[in-house]
Amino acid sequence: MLAEALAANAAAVEAVLVDLLDGAHWPPRLTEAMRHGTLAGGKRLRPFLVVETARMLGREGPGVVKAGAAVELIHSYSLIHDDLPAMDNDALRRGRPTVHRAFDVATAILAGDALLTLAFEVLADPEVDDDPERRSDLVAVLAKAAGPAGMVGGQMLDLAAEGRFAADKRPLALDVDQVARLQAMKTGALIAAAVEMGAVLGAADRSQRVQLRHYGEAIGAAFQIADDLLDVEGTTEALGKAAGKDAAAGKGTLVSLWGAERAHRRLDELVAAADRSLAAFGAAADGLRRTARFVAERRS
Ligand code: IPE
Ligand code: IPE
Ligand code: MG
Ligand code: MG
Ligand code: MG
Repeated sequence: MLAEALAANAAAVEAVLVDLLDGAHWPPRLTEAMRHGTLAGGKRLRPFLVVETARMLGREGPGVVKAGAAVELIHSYSLIHDDLPAMDNDALRRGRPTVHRAFDVATAILAGDALLTLAFEVLADPEVDDDPERRSDLVAVLAKAAGPAGMVGGQMLDLAAEGRFAADKRPLALDVDQVARLQAMKTGALIAAAVEMGAVLGAADRSQRVQLRHYGEAIGAAFQIADDLLDVEGTTEALGKAAGKDAAAGKGTLVSLWGAERAHRRLDELVAAADRSLAAFGAAADGLRRTARFVAERRS
């Protein structure tokens, strides 16, 4: 049931992305690289969170899907840059060559930059919401999650944890709280922002927004632990990206600190915490409940 809802939403998001990346007046090579990094592939989880949260609050329609597409543009940019030789140096993404391999490093950098800026142009469109205050709220939520206090800041901590900036180049011995903070920033922030944007679009009141924010933070933490477990337990074929790279790179993960078994237990705790945050929403939140379980149990 969730799989069907995810697939249906992914198709709607894909159609909006195709439209947004038409690129009629852009340099063709840039457009092709942006399309390569964004279209055809990906679970489209973040747009689903925007749409499902808004739906729970009684708001549906093309504006919500467009806001979801804006989050996916940011996510796709983050993957293109994450894969660069100077970052994780990966050759495979979503079952295809990474953008810097299919094109070149400079084009991949520019494609990422272009997707990042395009996301905010999309969110500023009155089609997303006719209330300018709400649009500015959406822009602020997404910008904060994507920037130095969120994804980009977390990526900086992630590279530092590998020991790259240390004199002896040895991985830093981060403790559990430090790894949790790094992961909350690099991955959790954008996932929590997707939920919060759904809350904004659905005109959530203050207390609903706080509860949904907690839900988003719990599944955001779960999402990266699942990603780290899949790096150990998954296959390159199933993931569409290289498996088994994190330990060698000295990545700061809870799996490396705790081992897989305890990390799986932590996933269960986070799903329970996510469920608790939804208590006030009744049966309307069943879709978000199932999504929390999906995030923890996903195999790709
Ligand atoms: C991968 O994200 C990067 C992380 C934040 C861990 P996803 O697993 O959502 O990647 P796609 O969009 O489905 O390819
Ligand atoms: C990436 O984390 C988080 C981002 C902000 C893109 P990872 O480096 O673990 O993501 P994958 O495993 O390459 O998808
Ligand atoms: Mg990375
Ligand atoms: Mg990576
Ligand atoms: Mg990973």
